[in-house]
Amino acid sequence: MKRLTAPDIAQMKGGKIASLTAYDFFTAKYLDTAGIDLILVGDSINMVIYGQETTLSATMEIMTAHTKAVSLGAQRALVVGDLPFMSYQASNEDAIRNAGRLMLAGAGAVKLEGGEEVAEKVRLIVDAGMPVLGHIGMQPQSVHRVGGYMTMGKTAQSRDYLIRSAKALENAGAFGIVLEKVDTEAAREITNAISIPTIGIGSGKGCDGQILVVNDILGLYDTFTPPFVKKYTDLKPIIIDAVREFISDVKEGRYP
Ligand code: KIV
Repeated sequence: MKRLTAPDIAQMKGGKIASLTAYDFFTAKYLDTAGIDLILVGDSINMVIYGQETTLSATMEIMTAHTKAVSLGAQRALVVGDLPFMSYQASNEDAIRNAGRLMLAGAGAVKLEGGEEVAEKVRLIVDAGMPVLGHIGMQPQSVHRVGGYMTMGKTAQSRDYLIRSAKALENAGAFGIVLEKVDTEAAREITNAISIPTIGIGSGKGCDGQILVVNDILGLYDTFTPPFVKKYTDLKPIIIDAVREFISDVKEGRYP
């Protein structure tokens, strides 16, 4: 089976790119079997797998280990490795080297957060041979600067910044851009202003694709569910019931 590449995803502009996160071999295998286009090994792993309050303490060691597992599990989908907080902010050299570590772990592309201010880093990573997915709007790695997980692009100033940033990322060679929690109209405007695809999360229908955190849609993360998430199943009570049954089977001698 041919694996999708970043240029394949770029060509899906105007289509509907279906994307989810995954963090382990078997989830990646099942998403791939279902026909998902793009799997992001997101730094959301820090919250939904490691139980932390924010994405900030995800490390390169965590991201490379899980990128390796997901890349082995997915045969067709493009696997994108997420550059965690402080793996690219401090220097251009960090950005190139750490992007390279994710590619060596098996990713077909890397993602990093930021707008026009990270365009130079995006250009350098692309020039080193690695495809980059941008990420603007709500940037979880900047939650402390912004003061919360709010919707972006509601004011003219914020909208202008987002459009400028999307164009800067496109000019720097990004093959696509994630729009996280961007006002629906602003997201549509950004999508129309650039020739690479936008992949929205909580940004409305006007994007070229959608991405969600897999644990949210399967009901495996109960700390907080963003209002834009559609839960396709609720595995938490199913798991608890199954485990309760196992416990009572063991205690009452029905198993083995
Ligand atoms: O880390 C992540 O899962 C992400 C998505 C929410 C886009 O960045």
